[in-house]
Amino acid sequence: MPSKRVSEWPIDNAFLKRHSPRAFSKEKITESMLLTLLEAARWAPSSLNIQPWRFVYSLRGDQAWNGLISSLRPYNHTSACSASALVVFASNRFHLPEGTEDPVLNPFHVFDTGAAWSCFSIQAAMSDWYVLPMGGFDSAAIAKNIRLPSDYSVHIVAAIGRMLDPSALTTNLGQNDAANNRRPLSETAFLGHFP
Ligand SMILES: Cc1cc2nc3c(=O)[nH]c(=O)nc-3n(C[C@H](O)[C@H](O)[C@H](O)COP(=O)(O)O)c2cc1C
Repeated sequence: MPSKRVSEWPIDNAFLKRHSPRAFSKEKITESMLLTLLEAARWAPSSLNIQPWRFVYSLRGDQAWNGLISSLRPYNHTSACSASALVVFASNRFHLPEGTEDPVLNPFHVFDTGAAWSCFSIQAAMSDWYVLPMGGFDSAAIAKNIRLPSDYSVHIVAAIGRMLDPSALTTNLGQNDAANNRRPLSETAFLGHFP
């Protein structure tokens, strides 16, 4: 499906192609395909190469599926139910500096895990899969479902799937997914200091 997004400056098409659909085709995804996408996330950069992220995944209909779906806020249910896989992006808030025994806070754990999600979603777009990141979930329910260690936080649950042709949708869910825009670069990037 051609992207409706237009960049101000020349960039690789993968950045324009990636978007967050609200409806997927319910197609199955193989575990090896999902692991390929997670491999891209694994190669994200991180402060001190700590790699604070962890990914917990579920393939459509498997044992973990219903628990993860029910941990999402109701407004995400329809989208998630049409996905091929769900991936919880979590990270360790602490790290153990080499040669020490006391964990210290890692101030970059959220930033770094965002970078991992970004690599994941761009690799997905390059492979004709799409990712909807969902911050709308019940933290306690997710933590219980995935047996989250107490020193970890969950950031998003990502729904992965194939694009539905928006014309096949009976509601307006997903109709404008690929069309949203961005603030101009001139209002986002400043030479030297804020205006
Ligand atoms: C951290 C984060 C949380 C989000 N949570 C949700 C969500 O719970 N439900 C949803 O439908 N979209 C969610 N989104 C998707 C955003 O609305 C979407 O990324 C934004 O509108 C830009 O559109 P694009 O991703 O298609 O470029 C989330 C995105 C991010 C990065």
